[in-house]
Amino acid sequence: MIITPDEFRKYVAQVGEIDPIMVDARRAEGIYVWDSEDKQYIDMLSGICVANIGHNHPKVLKAIRSQMYKSLHLMVYGEFIQRQQYLYARKIMGLLENKYQQIFFVNSGSEAIEGAIKTAKLYTKRPEVISMKNSYHGSTMGAVSLMSDEKFTAPFRPLIPMCSSIEFNNVEDLQKITQQTACVVSETIQAGAGVILPENDYLKKLQQRCKEVGALLIMDEIQTGFGRTGKLFAFQNYDILPDIICIAKSMGGGMPIGGFIGKKKVMDSLNNHHPLIGHASTFGGHPLSLAAARASLKVLIKENIMEDVEKKGEIYRQKLVHPQIKEVRGKGLFNCIVLNEPKKWKEALISCFEEGIITGTHLFNEGCLSIKPPLTITYQEIDLSIEKILKALNKIS
Ligand SMILES: Cc1ncc(COP(=O)(O)O)c(C=O)c1O
Repeated sequence: MIITPDEFRKYVAQVGEIDPIMVDARRAEGIYVWDSEDKQYIDMLSGICVANIGHNHPKVLKAIRSQMYKSLHLMVYGEFIQRQQYLYARKIMGLLENKYQQIFFVNSGSEAIEGAIKTAKLYTKRPEVISMKNSYHGSTMGAVSLMSDEKFTAPFRPLIPMCSSIEFNNVEDLQKITQQTACVVSETIQAGAGVILPENDYLKKLQQRCKEVGALLIMDEIQTGFGRTGKLFAFQNYDILPDIICIAKSMGGGMPIGGFIGKKKVMDSLNNHHPLIGHASTFGGHPLSLAAARASLKVLIKENIMEDVEKKGEIYRQKLVHPQIKEVRGKGLFNCIVLNEPKKWKEALISCFEEGIITGTHLFNEGCLSIKPPLTITYQEIDLSIEKILKALNKIS
């Protein structure tokens, strides 16, 4: 059965207009997605940084299969020792050199942000939350309240009170973080703004200001985590140690899961609360998702996938040269093409799609196209994807 975009939209609610590259995806494996006519696409979005180890990794599938016969859901309010949760938590703390002690499991990135903000409010007993302009942290009301742009927030007002935003990379703005501030929420590299890298020790200065006033620094590693920039987490490139790390997306190797990680003394402000007035989630840390997450993490580490991520990214930044391209910026395999003529973004997307490349634009910067393939992409496939992108751009010149 062929399902057209119109037929799909007839029954399934979505945001926005029909995407110019709505593929009837039938299957996915590694860096590839195939449509109903078996046309092959290279996925340069990775489901927005979900498929870091590639789609449908056999070791992830095996782990899911093995767990599903043991148990699906189990009560989560302390009735059971959740084995998969324990094993994952212990592993990730070890990988973070035990500088953090606990993780709270949720189902998604938005929920990780919500939980982190609530933890910061409990810990500091302060009301204010500061975020960065042009950031997206999720679609729940707390996460929406962190968005700076009226265009996105106006219909949902009133938002959560005492949320404001400062400019990423603007050192003067750091003075707006005060003793009223419970936490600052920031991406390590701004994704939706069009892959904006932190400049000149900005993150260190941000951390320093938070320390000075006693506010917690919450890093959103939801896109940048799990090897995307060549390190397990992007903040590890910048010599900082946030108070809380929010993770999701690639964490589950394709399964829904999220979490926030913190030091024991911070997480204790949650631990010491009754579940219903702290934070709780029926499906958070689901055994199947965690089995997948454990397998995915194991593949990432054991197969040394992060080792040549920076080198691979550099190839895109060097070889994507074209009159339509102003620059290619990013770190590791977290990059975007900045178009010379931003208004041509739709044409560029459609042309790439016709060439068998799936890419996307950025929420706050439409003239940027994603170059975020699975980290497992081979050198040969990198060259092939570059060839296809350049050919696609030739067609819109
Ligand atoms: C940087 C960032 N933070 C948070 C989120 C929200 O994650 P989720 O869609 O899993 O709720 C996203 C989703 O795209 C994101 O890109």
